[in-house]
Amino acid sequence: MQERYGKRYSQGYNPGIFEETYERALRLTSIKRCDYILEIGCGNGSFLRKLGRRSKNVFGIDLNKDAIRCLNTKNCSVMDVQDMGFRSDYFDKIFSIHTIEHIPDLEKAFSEIRRVLKKKGKAILVYPFEPIRGLFEIGSSMRVYGHPFYGWKFHLHTLSPSKIEKISKRYGLNVSKSGFMLSRLIGPPWPQFFSVLEKV
Ligand SMILES: C[S@@+](CC[C@H](N)C(=O)[O-])C[C@H]1O[C@@H](n2cnc3c(N)ncnc32)[C@H](O)[C@@H]1O
Repeated sequence: MQERYGKRYSQGYNPGIFEETYERALRLTSIKRCDYILEIGCGNGSFLRKLGRRSKNVFGIDLNKDAIRCLNTKNCSVMDVQDMGFRSDYFDKIFSIHTIEHIPDLEKAFSEIRRVLKKKGKAILVYPFEPIRGLFEIGSSMRVYGHPFYGWKFHLHTLSPSKIEKISKRYGLNVSKSGFMLSRLIGPPWPQFFSVLEKV
């Protein structure tokens, strides 16, 4: 899996593309200075830096060794969301922006998200609304495979709020908010979904 998410995936990745999405994700919950916050799939750290201005306990994980090496921060680790090395009931908030669609085993990921969240903790997930799986990854597909139509190798699921709700329920996570949003990525606004889950 690592080979998909090496230098070629992160290089050429425009760090500003999710700016509007980040702002919208931040509006979905409140953050206290003392909150323990995790970003899953932190990539080049653009959102992590924003979170770091709001809380002093911010952690990031990503499968991409090159991205984590460049970040060079002690609170960032190469880690798979399907098997996290954090102790249980550790985080108040978890954010994941355009990452869950990349995870092979969503059941394992949701079970881990529930485990590391504190009771009443929240997970804020943003994921693409894709009529064709992998459409959002044309750029990465070009960089990694030299071909535009291998985006499905990155996006392993076509997700919707109802699918997320079904999985969440199985893991004791209640959906407190979900919906559709449009925010600018490259060029025109792109359709995206969000779900806010709460550990019961
Ligand atoms: C589209 S990028 C999202 C980048 C980032 N959230 C941002 O705002 O720029 C998807 C990220 O998910 C990471 N990823 C894929 N599978 C993962 C896994 N199983 N565990 C943790 N991170 C993973 C990839 O390495 C990649 O950095």
